[in-house]
Amino acid sequence: MINIAVFISGRGSNFKAINEAIKCEFIKNAKISIVISDNPNAQGLLYAKENNIPYNIVDNKAKQEREANILKVLKTYNIDLVCLAGYMKIIGPSIIDNYPNKIMNIHPSLLPSFPGINAQKQALDYGVRITGCTLHFVDHLVDHGPVILQRSVEIDENDSVESLSAKILYYEHEIYPLGVKLFTENKLAISGRKVFII
Ligand code: GRF
Repeated sequence: MINIAVFISGRGSNFKAINEAIKCEFIKNAKISIVISDNPNAQGLLYAKENNIPYNIVDNKAKQEREANILKVLKTYNIDLVCLAGYMKIIGPSIIDNYPNKIMNIHPSLLPSFPGINAQKQALDYGVRITGCTLHFVDHLVDHGPVILQRSVEIDENDSVESLSAKILYYEHEIYPLGVKLFTENKLAISGRKVFII
């Protein structure tokens, strides 16, 4: 059984997509053992409660303290895979070095384009015609690690940040569960920056 920790800060729709994929056995042999949130009011915590998934609020202001607490939680639950799903804090080396190639993140652009916050607005402001989402492993740089899966989305001339975000989110909910499934089935092989799907 693969123990997954999901990190959230807000809505938690990717968290929900992963858990629903487990519930319907698209992802087998895995469970979300703990949800970690830096925000006690994160909407996603309601879904955790409804589904009897344990959650832990780790909201220390000081990064060192926060990460030490997170590590304790991850060890307590014997975590094999960390899924960052709208978690708004940057994860530091103390966590990354303990979970090499075992932390995934979803980003709402086709990386390496438009890293950082407001990726959908960045894409609209730049005027690109195609953007999308990227599921990647986390390394020491922000929105940078090896790419696992991507999906592209066309930008229409009348797209707003909201309409574009919704189109991208649809594919986020497709590729996050798929990436987790591939991980749990040991089908992701990493060589340098490249992820091979076996
Ligand atoms: C998503 O757009 C994700 O790509 C970004 O933050 C948002 C989280 O949404 N990292 P949700 O909390 O999973 O609904």
